[in-house]
Amino acid sequence: MDGNGRWALQRGLPRLAGHRAGTENLRRIITASVEFGIKYLTIYAFSTENWGRPREEVEGLMRILEDVIDRELGELHKEGVQLRHIGRLERLDPAIQEKVLAAIDLTRNNNRLILSVAFNYGGRDEIVCAIQKMIRDGVKAEEVNDELVSRYLFTAGVPDPDLIIRTSGELRVSNFLIWQAAYSEWYITPTYWPDFDKEEYRKALEAYARRDRRYGGLSDSTKD
Ligand code: IPE
Ligand code: MG
Repeated sequence: MDGNGRWALQRGLPRLAGHRAGTENLRRIITASVEFGIKYLTIYAFSTENWGRPREEVEGLMRILEDVIDRELGELHKEGVQLRHIGRLERLDPAIQEKVLAAIDLTRNNNRLILSVAFNYGGRDEIVCAIQKMIRDGVKAEEVNDELVSRYLFTAGVPDPDLIIRTSGELRVSNFLIWQAAYSEWYITPTYWPDFDKEEYRKALEAYARRDRRYGGLSDSTKD
């Protein structure tokens, strides 16, 4: 969800106004996902590197997370959204941790849309965490394979992403799902996140539908 800051700057607004607008857009995109029949949606809300931003912005982003849970949880639950969190919860304020855990608990039996919120998430951190857990569990070297690693990640049980959408035109991965994205399709649009609406979303899905996924092999049409 990139480009909130530039969206605000363009309008002479503070960066946090961009984050607020981005959050409102997220609400619309979640609803659109349910309508489009998307089963899994993962949103990158706060990275392990975002702590390096000015204190006011970090605090603002934390407050937004709290507000979103307070304001939207009931409606999301009604829509059948199951909330999950990926990343490290420990470093967040205990009150926020509690809210996140309560939201996960409330929605755990929903299955219309599995919404994973990456907050204090980093792909490298996730892999480090997985290795530490494997060692603590006494996993033997010979037992380590792709499938086992996947099970030790924060995303355990969630399929690898088919499509990753990056807004605001940046051409980089930024530590997002670096293991899981091995064969994901990318869609990059110059649109800033607060302006990435349902129509833009539809365009991204249509572009995805035209892709030929070969996973390093050959497409079916080439083989025949
Ligand atoms: C949102 O956009 C991403 C978050 C960390 C919430 P940015 O804040 O990175 O916006 P730009 O890149 O400054 O435009
Ligand atoms: Mg950015």
